[in-house]
Amino acid sequence: MSKAAIILAAGQGTRMKSALPKVLHKVAGLPLLGHVAAALKGAGVERIVVVTSAAGQEVRDYVRSLGAQSAIQLEQLGTGHAAASARDVLADFSGSLLIVNGDMPLITSDTIAECLKAQARTGLALLAFDAADPASYGRVLLRPDGFLNRIVEYKDASPTERSVTLCNAGCYAADAGKFFQWAQHLKNDNAQKEYYLTDIPGLARRDSVSCAVAVTDEISVLGVNSRAELAQAEGKFQARFRTRLLKDGVTMIAPETVFFAHDTVIENDVEIDPFVVFGPGVTVKSGARLRSHSHLEGASVAGAAIVGPFARLRPGAVIGEGAHIGNFVEVKNTVIEKGAKANHLTYLGDARVGAGANIGAGTITCNYDGFTKAMTEIGAGAFIGSDTALVAPVKIGDGAITAAGSVITQDVAADALALARGVQVPSDKTSLI
Ligand code: UD1
Ligand code: MG
Repeated sequence: MSKAAIILAAGQGTRMKSALPKVLHKVAGLPLLGHVAAALKGAGVERIVVVTSAAGQEVRDYVRSLGAQSAIQLEQLGTGHAAASARDVLADFSGSLLIVNGDMPLITSDTIAECLKAQARTGLALLAFDAADPASYGRVLLRPDGFLNRIVEYKDASPTERSVTLCNAGCYAADAGKFFQWAQHLKNDNAQKEYYLTDIPGLARRDSVSCAVAVTDEISVLGVNSRAELAQAEGKFQARFRTRLLKDGVTMIAPETVFFAHDTVIENDVEIDPFVVFGPGVTVKSGARLRSHSHLEGASVAGAAIVGPFARLRPGAVIGEGAHIGNFVEVKNTVIEKGAKANHLTYLGDARVGAGANIGAGTITCNYDGFTKAMTEIGAGAFIGSDTALVAPVKIGDGAITAAGSVITQDVAADALALARGVQVPSDKTSLI
């Protein structure tokens, strides 16, 4: 059966106290909304509609980048009203419809599949979890036969109902046509004067449809409503990611000090020393070693390469097989070919460093003249003396040498020596200056 999903993302997110819409806050470098959309796609959902507020242009721009559609909820009248706002956009759709809160970054494709499986039992299902601290989540009250009796929102609950620890996760599955029919009958006679999505099961029962409850783990359905919960979600995401990498054969002696992005790819037999941080877009191949206090983003590292300690790889850094990038070396938009070395205190930007080349300490590619960026080409086996300034655009031939302290403004031929620095005044003459 075809599958579509509505992601609810029009709420104010007032508890975040932020100018940025809640669902655009990031966990592991990806907006909350991106995590939810990725999990849905992984569960085979072909069509996603994100409900946004009228002011949510920033969210709609992001939605477009995800290849999803947007619907607008003009007034924030509650989660049920929000889901119903997607009706027109999905008018031509028939099949299974998932409705998911946009603030659940740890949800996985497997969790969504559990919800769909439960839906197949009766035609309607929701995800619930047993909360260690149920806080203000809606409480799930079951019938003796295990199906849902009703959900009671925290603000509407009696003290006895509040003592229930089974909570509503905010992920539902139903037949699309039926769901929109039920949604038309929602009422707002409750403590918050809102149209609650959680009242849908009660309306379904009038059509003799019971709501199945799939109980899932608490972490996967953690809702982010505040900065504290955002930090908590980040922590849980990182813990889950580290556990998976350790299982896949990555060595980390202090995994709790290493931070990954949502899309980090690390092969087995990579060694990651303590305090390494990954931004988005990094791939590290088997046999590489990342040493302490390095920061990598938009970079790839080949096998047997060593990066760090204290190295910074920025977008477009491609570190070849067996290459060494050492302490206080920054690499941006630069290919470091096989076995090349830049071991200390260097900036390599918009460059190619040929195989086996050696970059001395303090070398700088002067890639920006204040207006445009230019390339530096360093040939295979070249030796760049310490403290060389390479003023781009410039080419250093294969096997060429630049003398320490040179400012290189012209191309250097293969195997040539370039010496471009002031001549030292003999020490016995210094008293005359
Ligand atoms: C909701 C559930 C609660 C559940 C919890 C799980 C309802 C009534 N309550 O509460 O049972 O335990 O999620 O995290 O559904 N939104 C809109 N338009 C609105 C209101 C909200 O799009 O008018 C969106 C929000 O952007 C958010 C989602 O719906 O992504 C949930 O809203 P939120 O205010 O976080 O609901 P909770 O109070 O957490
Ligand atoms: Mg919430």
